[in-house]
Amino acid sequence: MSKMPGFPHKGFPEGWFGVGWSSDFAVGEPVLRRYFGEDMVLYRAETGRMVAVYAYCPHMGARLDVGGKVEGECITCPFHRWKWDADGNNVDIPYAEKTMKAKLKTYPVVESGNIVWMWNSWRSAEPTWEAPDLDFLSGPEFFWDDEASKRVWTNVRLTPQMVAENIVDGPHIEYVHLAEDGGHIANIDIKGPVFSVEVDQTFRTRRGPVLGKTYNDSLGVGTQISKMQFGDYRVVNVLTTTPIEEDRCDMRASIFITLPAGLEKPEKAADLPEKMQRLIKSHLDSQEQDLPLWETMVYEAHPLLVAEEIQGHVKLRKWAKQFYEPA
Ligand code: FES
Ligand SMILES: [Fe+2]
Repeated sequence: MSKMPGFPHKGFPEGWFGVGWSSDFAVGEPVLRRYFGEDMVLYRAETGRMVAVYAYCPHMGARLDVGGKVEGECITCPFHRWKWDADGNNVDIPYAEKTMKAKLKTYPVVESGNIVWMWNSWRSAEPTWEAPDLDFLSGPEFFWDDEASKRVWTNVRLTPQMVAENIVDGPHIEYVHLAEDGGHIANIDIKGPVFSVEVDQTFRTRRGPVLGKTYNDSLGVGTQISKMQFGDYRVVNVLTTTPIEEDRCDMRASIFITLPAGLEKPEKAADLPEKMQRLIKSHLDSQEQDLPLWETMVYEAHPLLVAEEIQGHVKLRKWAKQFYEPA
């Protein structure tokens, strides 16, 4: 397994990580994904609930998404039809009198904000802190187009913490994201697994520079929720970075916007005023601007920080340590 050059922590960080959008999982269609160095199968049960299990059947190792059948909340293996429930218990072997005590590994998953979240921790198989509560984003106030409002970048060379560090990196906003000016940290607030930064920012608009605020919350190192106010609408950007291997991740951006008063919410982004379509696209594009840097950089464990950078970077790195297994 390759490592990110210079990165001081080993293994995978603890936290809730986005493993896909809700719409990626249709009832009865198991999906193979690889995260945290393991192959896993995710499926939506007939009850609607999401379930995640280790990809290979404990009997003889068949991969459960290859012809596996979802029945109720269970999945039945394609090879000899052993049936496993959502807690990983073996509940049926059609040609045997008794079931087996063996367990299929399961992973905690929840859904919120149109995203499927998985708990991962070296410390505790059960979640020790709350999953992101983003149900408000699925409400009537926010516009969401299941195609135009999201973008995924797969197998990108980076660690989630590099993305988290971006929220305290004011100067790069001017040089990488081509803003009028760099961002300035107005406040930092740390509560357990949540690191919140308030940034004063000058946005470049067609009508010239506009002063604004961005509120960034990093929930663990793998999720950043940025809230911005732009004129009469609000934008919420949910960015998830989920490790596949120690130096490889899938990144997903989801852009939620409120519509100005009086504008009826259309089904598709293509029916929005052009200005709003551009806004969604520019938020997705801006996530892409850091990628060539992340994909090629080394992680500098002892960066040369000037006074203006010290408090943000030092606080973030100190906070982030809690998510890794101590050496
Ligand atoms: S390998 Fe799954 S039932 Fe035999
Ligand atoms: Fe950035």
